[in-house]
Amino acid sequence: MAGSRLVRPSMAFRDSYRALVAEFAARAEPFVPFPLGFANENFEAFLAQLAGCAQGIDIPAGFVPHSTFWLVAGNEVVGVANLRHRLTDSLRIEGGHIGYGVRPSARGRGHGTRILALTLQEAAKLGIAQALVTCAKANLASSAVIRANGGVLQDEAFLESRGEVVQRWWVPTGAS
Ligand SMILES: CC(C)(COP(=O)(O)OP(=O)(O)OC[C@H]1O[C@@H](n2cnc3c(N)ncnc32)[C@H](O)[C@@H]1OP(=O)(O)O)[C@@H](O)C(=O)NCCC(=O)NCCS
Repeated sequence: MAGSRLVRPSMAFRDSYRALVAEFAARAEPFVPFPLGFANENFEAFLAQLAGCAQGIDIPAGFVPHSTFWLVAGNEVVGVANLRHRLTDSLRIEGGHIGYGVRPSARGRGHGTRILALTLQEAAKLGIAQALVTCAKANLASSAVIRANGGVLQDEAFLESRGEVVQRWWVPTGAS
């Protein structure tokens, strides 16, 4: 959606961010992207944790540095994206470079397409030319978002761990 912008997590949007997480929780939706599940009662500590993740500080074994961004429309956080700085064998199968989620009450207004577009620009800044994005085949909204950003389907496979077919898409970031 034009006018929305991607920001680094900050105290300025604390209440709006918490309201977004509460909407996911109220609907018992999985926390996608996964940092939505990070504790945020102590918001300063939460922001410090996210900043550390982007530097590769205090991340679990096997994880790579990852950056979290918020899509802000008006004065509300309407979406969250997580950019993995590089791929691992595990991320190549599922997870890819970028995960994103839109506030349930704000879906269907183009925010999903926009947050992926803006996060692709962040990937380009890291030198990633083609971003891998994975998505459940049944997630038609997400595959529409990926396609709208120029995604090209590489393949799909049934993943035992997920109990569903997961697609892998390559999406150009604009980096040369
Ligand atoms: C996937 C998600 C980010 C889409 O966000 P959104 O803000 O609704 O996306 P947009 O408004 O940009 O819609 C993108 C497209 O999906 C379509 N769409 C939206 N909801 C849909 C649905 N339930 N079924 C089919 N298509 C749908 C829209 O019509 C639009 O297509 P169009 O551009 O051809 O009209 C959002 O549904 C979400 O957060 N889901 C939970 C987390 C998740 O699945 N993340 C992706 C992990 S891979």
